[in-house]
Amino acid sequence: MLMPSIRIAALFIGVATMAVSVTSVAQEAKSPVAAEGDAGQQAFNNACRTCHIMREGDNRLGPNLHKVVGRKAGSLPDYPFSSAMKEAGFVWDEEKLDRFIANPDEVVPGNGMKPYGGLASSDERKKIIAFLAQSR
Ligand code: HEC
Repeated sequence: MLMPSIRIAALFIGVATMAVSVTSVAQEAKSPVAAEGDAGQQAFNNACRTCHIMREGDNRLGPNLHKVVGRKAGSLPDYPFSSAMKEAGFVWDEEKLDRFIANPDEVVPGNGMKPYGGLASSDERKKIIAFLAQSR
C-alpha cells in the first residue's frame, strides 16, 4: 500500500518541477528583448535626459532628439544652437553620435553641449544610440 502513494508523490514533484522550468524558460526567452529596450532608455535617462527629451518640438536646455539619426547637425529651426553646431555641416549617423557622446569637442569643436563630461563606456554609448535610433 505504501508504494503507490510514493509514486504519486514523486509524480507530483516531477510535474511541479517541469512547470517551474517551463516558466523560467519562458521568462528567459522574453527578457533579452525587454532588457535591451529598458537598458537603452535607462542609459539615456542617466546621461542625457537632464537636458534632452525625444519629443518632437520639445526643446529643453538641449534640443529635442526626435529622429536625430539622419538629421542634419544644428538644423532645428526653433533651437538656439551654437554657431559651431550650426556650421558643423554633417548629418548625424550612429558613428558620429558615438564619437560625439564620447567626446563632443572632438566632433564639433566649440559646441555648446555643456556641462557634459563625455561618456567613456562604449557599452553605454551603444545602448543610448540604439535607443536614439528607434526614433524614426
Ligand atoms: C548638460 C546638458 C546636456 C547633456 C547632459 C547632454 N546634452 Fe546633448 N546637447 C546639449 C546642448 C546645450 C546642445 C546644443 C549644443 C550646441 O548648440 O552646440 C546639445 C546638442 C546635442 C546634439 C546635437 C543635436 C542637433 O540637432 O544637432 C546631440 C546629438 C546631443 N546633444 C546628444 C546628446 C546625448 C545622446 C546625450 C547623452 C549621452 C546628451 N546629448 C547629453 C546639452 C546636453
